[in-house]
Amino acid sequence: MDSEHRPPTLDPLAAETFDSSHQIYAELRQTCPVVHSDTWGGFWSLMKYDDVKRAASDWRGFISSKQNVVPKVAFTGRRPPLHLDPPEHTPYRSALNPLLSVARAETLAPATERFAAEQLAPLLAKGGGDICGEFSSLVPVRVFGQWMTLPDDWIDTLRAGVYAFITAVRSADPEKMRQTSYRIYGLARELIAARKEAPMDPATDPTSALLAARVDGEPLHDEMIVGTVRQLLAVGLVAPMVMVGNIGVHLARDRALQSQLRADPSLLPAAIEEFLRLYSPYRGFARTVVDDTEMSGQVIPAGDPVALVYASANRDEAKFPNGAEFQLGRPNIADHLAFGRGPHNCPGANIARMELRVMAQTLLSSTTGFALDGEVEMSAWPEIGPMTVPLKFE
Ligand code: HEM
Repeated sequence: MDSEHRPPTLDPLAAETFDSSHQIYAELRQTCPVVHSDTWGGFWSLMKYDDVKRAASDWRGFISSKQNVVPKVAFTGRRPPLHLDPPEHTPYRSALNPLLSVARAETLAPATERFAAEQLAPLLAKGGGDICGEFSSLVPVRVFGQWMTLPDDWIDTLRAGVYAFITAVRSADPEKMRQTSYRIYGLARELIAARKEAPMDPATDPTSALLAARVDGEPLHDEMIVGTVRQLLAVGLVAPMVMVGNIGVHLARDRALQSQLRADPSLLPAAIEEFLRLYSPYRGFARTVVDDTEMSGQVIPAGDPVALVYASANRDEAKFPNGAEFQLGRPNIADHLAFGRGPHNCPGANIARMELRVMAQTLLSSTTGFALDGEVEMSAWPEIGPMTVPLKFE
């Protein structure tokens, strides 16, 4: 086949800027919405809103238990709830969901405000800094410590462990991933041993809730509780970090919106939803197709992994007109897929929204203006979004 007629492919290892992948995804939505990559053993990417929504919702046809992320990172064991299919998946969510309600998230807001103010103070003193590395990577781990009632002296260890794991995932080095993942497993085992010795209230402590859960009168298997706590210790820390970076870049470029949100913080919850749509921080959550499956005219062979490119689906013009534009108060904003769909939809969405609101508000109310002050550095699959955003405060 000559190169003119070769179908497009997607290179997940290509260097990218803040906007470049979104431009490529917009083209692919028109020309090749189900696109193949040979990288990492080969996988398909779903670019269109309807296809991503269908794959996320149809858990019988698109399973999570074989490969749930591109690139495949789980070498060290099964980690519920992400790695399981219903019905095995269900008891873990039943145990965790009540601890992640809007009300519970809001009880964490005052502490989050304190953490955000404390972490931003050194940047304010020096007139700016990297809002990802020095601010939004530090606040969520402390919020998590509150939610999981972790001892204070664990926070630095957890942060270092999780970031070593993320760096290993970015380097796509299985041996490093394995080693760093085991470190987080070590923390999970320690936490479970501590709660077994001195149980806490299952209505507020996630580890105690998992230990108290029963299926047909039987407790959950010990190793699966370890896997769940391990999952919880790592998930939910990168996405808020990246999102604050996205918000920082967007507001640095759009000074009118920056002033509007600073003047009227009541607009923030709606703005956060639109930022989540526009800059959905995930593209690599994956499923494996059970049968040969046609999507947007392409047959995906049974057994192949598919990436649910939430970041592309949420800019699909067929669903969100002028999808690349920020529009406060979009009529169908509630339909965005930033937190996924179906049984694996994000249980941490309420905490995430609260954290993003508090961090954005702290950034806005502590400054009279901010602008970009250097190069934005990007993360890599399975995330999408910046890891480094240097800002200069005015
Ligand atoms: C901006 C922040 C966040 C975003 C955009 C986000 C997004 C997502 C998405 C898209 C999924 C679905 C995965 C799939 O389709 O396979 C997911 C799952 C998950 N998220 Fe989040 N998340 C965020 C923050 C959090 C936080 C703060 C927590 C914990 C408190 C959390 C805990 C989880 C867990 C445990 C799962 C797995 C659920 C399951 O498999 O049933 N996330 N998240």
